[in-house]
Amino acid sequence: MKYILLCILFTLYLVAKELITAIPIDIKYNQQKANIGKMLFFDTMLSKDRKISCASCHKPNNGWADKKDFSVGIFGAKDVIQTPTILNSTFNFRQFWNGKAKNFKEQIDITLHNPIEMGMTKILVEKRVNQSREYKDIFFKAYHKDFISYKMVIDTIVEFQKALTTPNAKFDLFLQNRAKLTTKERQGYRLFKKLGCITCHNGINIGGNSFQKIGLIFKYNNCEADRYQLTKKELDRCIYKVPTLRNIELTAPYFHDASAKTLKKAIEYMAHYNLGYIIKDSEVKSIESFLKTLTGKTQNTMSTNNGK
Ligand code: HEC
Ligand code: HEC
Repeated sequence: MKYILLCILFTLYLVAKELITAIPIDIKYNQQKANIGKMLFFDTMLSKDRKISCASCHKPNNGWADKKDFSVGIFGAKDVIQTPTILNSTFNFRQFWNGKAKNFKEQIDITLHNPIEMGMTKILVEKRVNQSREYKDIFFKAYHKDFISYKMVIDTIVEFQKALTTPNAKFDLFLQNRAKLTTKERQGYRLFKKLGCITCHNGINIGGNSFQKIGLIFKYNNCEADRYQLTKKELDRCIYKVPTLRNIELTAPYFHDASAKTLKKAIEYMAHYNLGYIIKDSEVKSIESFLKTLTGKTQNTMSTNNGK
């Protein structure tokens, strides 16, 4: 009884308080290193078969995610889990769906070694970059070292990823009293709080700050690469890092298994599996229009010719 009362009080508290915060525009990163990281991000030299770059899967034109259900890596191998956006991933408390990397350094090391994605080793990365006159020159300018180490390579990609934030989304401007939401967007935001979406999707990334279950109310059957795979604890089955909802309109398909092809479906599934509601079409539409106010722009210095 005490527990139920606490839950009710906590929910009321969440409804009352603004639980989403805006992205500050002055995120700090090293511009010179980020520029090198950006070059590497688009360079197929970082994959074993020289055909795949980070951008082959994190496509700037698909919100830095992939519109394919499962991305294709080296030698035509297929990933087993949907490619998430890397926009604003600097705000996530862990990296990867099940949080297996504590920070960007670990994540980039795992990605480079992933036999499906890049299939590299530390030695091979060092060999390839040190053979390039161009990289030698720019790394020398940034680090004043003749030899480009694996650590330096990772360091530059970390700086690039830090720069990939999307401030000034309409919703952030609304939080700062610099824009007004339409009636539909406001209704959507209200529903998002009332139904309880906000209990998991909150904070600066509207997600990215906790591990939660898919299938909290109705069991979800397909839980590939969940936290259980990492911890082998029964309670961790179907547990994933809550994904960010920023730029969500750009990153279909949705969920770790790509089971929702449209944002509308993703909203319906979440309401059903995680909250036990069958929601009306008009409610789905207003939540969708609220979610679309979460789309921002990458900062000028990091925008690319081939995307936003
Ligand atoms: C073959 C496709 C593919 C390639 C190439 C690839 N990634 Fe990924 N990336 C993925 C997938 C799939 C995941 C999710 C894996 C998981 O969570 O288990 C992911 C996850 C991530 C994440 C974590 C995001 C989050 O919110 O948890 C970051 C950051 C990232 N990749 C950056 C990179 C960088 C940098 C490179 C190049 C060095 C790269 N990726 C290359 C497919 C790819
Ligand atoms: C109990 C926590 C919880 C609640 C409540 C919740 N979500 Fe989620 N949400 C998650 C988790 C965990 C995932 C990732 C699930 C997966 O991919 O397996 C997710 C994924 C999503 C995605 C897909 C993100 C992507 O990049 O693939 C959307 C969209 C979404 N939620 C919207 C909502 C909406 C709208 C509501 C309210 C109707 C809601 N969520 C309620 C935890 C929650």
